[in-house]
Amino acid sequence: HSVVEIIGAKRDGGRLSAAQIDWVIDAYTRGEVAEEQMSALAMAILLRGMDDAETARWTAAMAASGEMLDLGALDRPTVDKHSTGGVGDKITLALTPLVAACGAAVPQLSGRGLGHTGGTLDKLESIPGWRARLGTAELYRNLDEVGAVICAATERIAPADSRMYALRDVTATVESVPLIAGSILSKKLAEGTASLVLDVKCGSGALLTEPERVRRLARTLVATGNDNGVRTSALLTSMSAPLGVAVGNALEVTEAVSVLRGEGPSEVTELTLALAREMLASSGMSDVDPAGVLASGAAYEKWRALVAAQGGDPDADLPVAAHVHTLRAPQSGNLATLDARAVGAAAWLLGAGRARKEDEVRHAAGVRCLAKPGDRVSGGEPLFELHTDEPGTIEDASRRLHGAYEITQGEVRTEPVVLERVT
Ligand code: URA
Repeated sequence: HSVVEIIGAKRDGGRLSAAQIDWVIDAYTRGEVAEEQMSALAMAILLRGMDDAETARWTAAMAASGEMLDLGALDRPTVDKHSTGGVGDKITLALTPLVAACGAAVPQLSGRGLGHTGGTLDKLESIPGWRARLGTAELYRNLDEVGAVICAATERIAPADSRMYALRDVTATVESVPLIAGSILSKKLAEGTASLVLDVKCGSGALLTEPERVRRLARTLVATGNDNGVRTSALLTSMSAPLGVAVGNALEVTEAVSVLRGEGPSEVTELTLALAREMLASSGMSDVDPAGVLASGAAYEKWRALVAAQGGDPDADLPVAAHVHTLRAPQSGNLATLDARAVGAAAWLLGAGRARKEDEVRHAAGVRCLAKPGDRVSGGEPLFELHTDEPGTIEDASRRLHGAYEITQGEVRTEPVVLERVT
């Protein structure tokens, strides 16, 4: 095979054969295909696309670039959830122990935040002692004994993807539907889950913002997962406004715990239950009612076990910001919109996110959104709490938040949390 011919074929709108795909990803993993050649191929794929068969093969080859876990020895069905990323999306934290308490095993290999969206591992690391890195033996043991892990994918999981993701980030090739599908699903194939539910976000805070492209991403993800033998379905969910009240690491952990205790914001509980039902259905367990399991306290107990099994203290106080600043409503009316991306950006400015991979996040930093679209607000009422350890960031973050909402005197029609189901 010649990499130049493969790039040229895709540049000219051709289909890549299974053999070409297998070879180019293997050669890239071995260092024989150079970064600039992979960058050119990524751009050709972004411009020309890949059909379902190419995407399925691409995904399988990316998964096979590293270690493939085998969870077949567990005595329970395995099922995982993946979100395409959003603002205030702490769903994994409550959903994983809930589904484990329902009797499935949940191997949740997660990532960190980059840009305006948060990462599950960054959130959990605000719990004193909690470890994201598990050895393979520990991962199997916790899945067997607790029924769930939430941990970092090691460098051995889909190594071609971690290199390629870094390339895409600096070559304007992130926004390709087949490349996103290959990237997300290669890690899920390698993790060995039997079923998978995708939470595909739609709206200003999402990875892709145009509804038609989001729908195409959802359909491609579902087809690519199923083509590779993972029972896959997807929910299209709203990410126009942040999910729930809290945006930022420790603030989101607190909110997830409140969901597990039956006291969470209703939309967060609603989405957690909708995804739990979808996960249980795809594992042949639709007879289990997750709402009953949540109400019984079993999911909260499972959360405590999950945190403790990874070295965390479920009773420890979480970090609290040195400064909390309140922004108030300038007038009375109905909150018409609250822009997820702008709120994510404000939380990021306050220290919740990172600009480069190697930066540290501030665990206590973030924003609490005290009013959500559809709520009636009175002039002078608090709209946002800004939490930060760095008071110098408050002015910029406040400016972002002042531009993030509209108050209207008219009626407000709000979007449902779950927009569509894609199978
Ligand atoms: N998340 C991933 O893991 N990969 C992508 O390409 C986009 C989102």
